[in-house]
Amino acid sequence: MKKILFVSSEVHPLIKTGGLADVCGSLPKAIAELSQDIKLILPRYQALKITEEIRFLCTVRVDNRNVNILETRLPDSQVTVLLVDYPSYFNFPGNPYVDELGEPWPNNAERFGLFCRIAVEVAMDRAHLDWQPDIVHCNDWQTGLVPALLSLEYEPPKTVFTIHNMAYQGLFPKTAVYDLNIPGRLWHIAGLEFFDMLSFIKGGLVYADFITTVSPSYALEIQTAEFGYGLEGLLAARNASLGGIINGIDNEHWNPETDPYIAQTFTSKNLTKKRLNKTQVQEYFALPVNEKILLFSLIGRLVEQKGIDLLVECLPEMMTMNLQFVLLGSGDKAYEKQLQALAKQYPEQIAIKLGYDEALAHVIEAGSDVFLMPSKFEPCGLNQMYSQRYGTIPIVRKTGGLADTVTDTLPETLALGTASGLVFTEASAGALLEAIKRALILYSVPSTWKKMQVNAMSKDFSWQRSAEQYLALYDNL
Ligand code: ADP
Ligand code: GLC
Repeated sequence: MKKILFVSSEVHPLIKTGGLADVCGSLPKAIAELSQDIKLILPRYQALKITEEIRFLCTVRVDNRNVNILETRLPDSQVTVLLVDYPSYFNFPGNPYVDELGEPWPNNAERFGLFCRIAVEVAMDRAHLDWQPDIVHCNDWQTGLVPALLSLEYEPPKTVFTIHNMAYQGLFPKTAVYDLNIPGRLWHIAGLEFFDMLSFIKGGLVYADFITTVSPSYALEIQTAEFGYGLEGLLAARNASLGGIINGIDNEHWNPETDPYIAQTFTSKNLTKKRLNKTQVQEYFALPVNEKILLFSLIGRLVEQKGIDLLVECLPEMMTMNLQFVLLGSGDKAYEKQLQALAKQYPEQIAIKLGYDEALAHVIEAGSDVFLMPSKFEPCGLNQMYSQRYGTIPIVRKTGGLADTVTDTLPETLALGTASGLVFTEASAGALLEAIKRALILYSVPSTWKKMQVNAMSKDFSWQRSAEQYLALYDNL
């Protein structure tokens, strides 16, 4: 049995801004199910949704600060969650990274720097929890200083750093090096320095014993200038210690057979029941209730990564077709405005809900016919997997995890019984529109559409295989 400390800045269902939380809430459970001793560590934000008991464990002193470590449990699991309690950094309402206006909290370097320091104290068993991990598994830039600081320790645990998104790197002005008391031995070009800035992500990329990312395709893409953001050289140099392990999904939470949020549960054997969920979506969004109109949807952060500009460009032409489109998301104000204007212009066909709404996300996944993910890049992406599980056909761009989890519908793949979505390559509105037209044609042949739905629903996106790959990696280290 291995002892694993799993470090993350968000964990579903305690706190979530995106897929990172889904993964960090479900992967540790899958690892625990493989009989491993895994503990999560997370900052104690005010917005945490804690349902289990909280217990005080100890106070640790770092950088002249007294920090409490509390303990709770991940709901529906035996996984322990350690909470780093430092109220003047974390006891604020709202989002872990940004304020109400969407601006990064001004002291993010200090906040996540302290979080990393505490993770290191726990990893070295200096918090006196009488538990020393064999492996410290870190996720994204917020945890990047952990492998770096551990590299300076005597006989530290082995470290894994998982990249969920190279676009977010935790870059801070050089002054942060002094403010955070970063040891001089880490501050150089082959260390934490990136063009005279302090780079948290480099802490993971340079010092972790092994780097993973969340799909095999993205593991290759980030070694190129287009997706590497200037770190492609470093990643290519570490190629022997870099691999892609595809994310799984929480099959219990995203299960059309038992989903408590949806109007009508269903399986691939009684797909006609899915219709009621389509009605639920059309009614919710006050669109004409009509089973025959193809219902498209998108759920996600409205940022450049997600290809929202392609969608906005396509929507007017889409409106000449017999389809409806609903969107749930929030993000860049410019996209929000453009989408709102389009919804106003085409009230019979477009409806949008700005904001974050977990229950509605389930309703949309269950009720739509087609789910759009025209992402510019996508390290893994989860919604295309949720969609397939709910018999909702994804249209995705061939990038990252989207390329690895959706099989394009072609005569060959239909014959093989693998066709589960529509895949387009070029990042252009024209290419997206072609895929949308293909969907309309396929939908007009109900037997083909049903085949695609059944193929999609029978795919195995469970965590088991990926959790075993992580375990094999821990063993190798
Ligand atoms: P990313 O992590 O890049 O945002 P993913 O596809 O990996 O993309 O994961 C996004 C997760 O966040 C999914 O679980 C999705 O359902 C959820 N999500 C995104 N935006 C919203 C929203 N506005 N309301 C509810 N859930 C959302
Ligand atoms: C990131 C990526 C997304 C991935 C998620 C979980 O937020 O943008 O593609 O699915 O992390 O790994």
